[in-house]
Amino acid sequence: MSVRFNKKLSSIPGYTPGVPKGHSAEDVAGSEIAQLASNESPFPPLEEVVEAICSAAASMNRYPDPDATTLRRRLAERHETEPARIAVANGSCEILLAAGEALLEPGAELVYGWPAFSMYPQLAAMSGAREIRVPLDRDEKHDLEAMLEEITAATQLVLVCNPNNPTGTYLRVSEIADFLKRVPEHVTVILDEAYIEFQQYDDPEDSVDLLDWHPNLVLLRTFSKAYSLAGLRVGYALCSPAFKAAVDAVRQPFSVNALAQAAATEALRHGDRIQERIESVIVERVRVESEIAGIGLKTAETQANFSWLSLGDNGTEIEQQVVADLAAAGVVGRPGRLLGGPGWLRVSYGTADQDDRFLEALSRAVGDHT
Ligand SMILES: Cc1ncc(COP(=O)(O)O)c(C=O)c1O
Repeated sequence: MSVRFNKKLSSIPGYTPGVPKGHSAEDVAGSEIAQLASNESPFPPLEEVVEAICSAAASMNRYPDPDATTLRRRLAERHETEPARIAVANGSCEILLAAGEALLEPGAELVYGWPAFSMYPQLAAMSGAREIRVPLDRDEKHDLEAMLEEITAATQLVLVCNPNNPTGTYLRVSEIADFLKRVPEHVTVILDEAYIEFQQYDDPEDSVDLLDWHPNLVLLRTFSKAYSLAGLRVGYALCSPAFKAAVDAVRQPFSVNALAQAAATEALRHGDRIQERIESVIVERVRVESEIAGIGLKTAETQANFSWLSLGDNGTEIEQQVVADLAAAGVVGRPGRLLGGPGWLRVSYGTADQDDRFLEALSRAVGDHT
């Protein structure tokens, strides 16, 4: 007889990692493989950040600061708010999971647009809450009007991913503001802004102002993308003190390790250089999007660090083959069927060299299969 696990376990969707089968992340990092499957930064962390990590490493006999005091202070200064309104976490994923734990239960409802970030279905599966997935509109954007219609007295949580992963599409802060005015106050709205730095429509601080009017709003940010720190796992929420207390209550006290705290604190001191990197990603975005159009494929209007491209009328049939052809050329992208969009492909921007390899392999694969 084998051990028995709880019933919900079998319904929890597993996370499919972006590295190719049979490889470790270290293999990929040290190889010629263009890892364009996880929306990471192609740049290594800034030198000063690496130095801060090395210097913090000398104190690893101590537990990290459970309150991430220095990092929360720096973040509060940056966003012109108080540290009590900032919850730092082991990646922004940790906040999502903790929010599920703190807000959801059987009988509760969770509303989100789909396709969106692949972790969202996990929140419903883990809590037993009912999930309502609202299809994106024909421009691959969140349909806020349709989402509002799904909110009931049982709704506890609404997730809006902006820019959206996997489509890259963006809703203006003014649209989010109108939406929030119509969401009942008992509903927590998490605005997942993992890619906010890459959009060119609003100042990334504009959504922060919405917190003054909506205590039920949570903004999720991360150091994994624009700040090149995905490997250290550090993200944060800008939120009400009540939300911070709730997520703190359901997770372990030392979730953000000391290296991550030191690295993120240092990275915040180099905003100008981070901004230069963001701009170079945007330049690459314009180039890659235009080349994809040249190949004859349609993309969603991305404001993130990746493209979401349709493989055309027979996309669902050729998707697997195209992904395999890209892999054979040493380029790893994400097939849309794993992300809720069969017939599409999500590819992050890498170095110009890697992107050239991707574009060449894509053009060849599309020529061979359409
Ligand atoms: C929309 C979105 N939110 C959150 C995350 C998680 O980021 P973190 O590395 O901070 O856990 C990701 C990562 O890909 C993402 O795409």
